Amino acid sequence: MTTGAITADGRARILADGNQMPMLGLGVWQVPNGAECVNAVRWALDEGYRHIDTAQAYGNEESVGKALRGSGVPRDEVFITTKFYPSHKDPVAEAQRSLTRLGVDQVNLYLVHWPQGGATWAWPGMERARELGYARSVGVSNFSVNQLDEVIAAGTIQPAVNQVQFSAPEYRRGLLDACRQRGVALEAYSPLGTGRHLSNETVMRVAKRVGRAPAQVLLRWCVQREVPVITKSTNHERIGENAQIYDFALSSEDLVELDALDQTNGTDLALERKWW
Ligand SMILES: NC(=O)c1ccc[n+]([C@@H]2O[C@H](COP(=O)([O-])OP(=O)(O)OC[C@H]3O[C@@H](n4cnc5c(N)ncnc54)[C@H](OP(=O)(O)O)[C@@H]3O)[C@@H](O)[C@H]2O)c1
Repeated sequence: MTTGAITADGRARILADGNQMPMLGLGVWQVPNGAECVNAVRWALDEGYRHIDTAQAYGNEESVGKALRGSGVPRDEVFITTKFYPSHKDPVAEAQRSLTRLGVDQVNLYLVHWPQGGATWAWPGMERARELGYARSVGVSNFSVNQLDEVIAAGTIQPAVNQVQFSAPEYRRGLLDACRQRGVALEAYSPLGTGRHLSNETVMRVAKRVGRAPAQVLLRWCVQREVPVITKSTNHERIGENAQIYDFALSSEDLVELDALDQTNGTDLALERKWW
């Protein structure tokens, strides 16, 4: 099924506010601020990524900005996401600090990192950050359907994106369907299960059959499910490998086999356990 929310070349998701988000992004969770992060982002940009995902909580926004400036890739060609750390109080003031650390005038997407303290309290500040031009789009992360509905009911604008843990073994079909019905783009994080899905037998069998790496199969599964996906690597070769997902396709049989890995029972929850 296609929803009409993907650009004709299949490389970007059109958000409800009209902005476009590249389907594949590099994430930098657990990458220390400094050379390791600068190198990873720089290699990703060299390998053709045009989407970088960071967060205030990751502590590495400076390195993302440094890599962007050093790459020579024009700012307007790169989609940058950062996330409001909800232990702090003021999304507007924290957005300003993020922009200073990143060295940019605006991020493309600003997300509430998780619904700590309730789903709605941060949203007016997120809307204000967008009005002030600090972010082109605003959204949420780790929000289940009920929390998403609370924000939609309370807000003036609705979240453009809900970034959640999502992969073939975490195929949250209920959440995906609910996001689609509401015009919210579900974005997948931890598509490789932070590495643990790479040795899954079914993933390895499909990978062997299609002649690709397990990581490419897991990323391609997201793309064919029309779900933008953020993956992490700090290794140049693997960053390059993960970008090669547009020159092959999974068959409907491959997709069915991968769909069956779901351990969430098609939940509409974002998480099985909260960490805050
Ligand atoms: N919003 C949230 O609350 C939230 C939560 C979690 C994650 N995220 C975002 O999503 C991003 C991705 O999720 P994730 O960090 O959990 O990781 P992931 O992409 O699911 O997996 C990354 C792991 O797989 C390895 N890997 C990557 N490509 C590989 C390949 N081709 N072959 C073999 N191994 C490979 C990496 O090791 P090497 O680095 O050594 O290659 C790393 O250990 C994060 O960085 C972050 O931006 C957001």
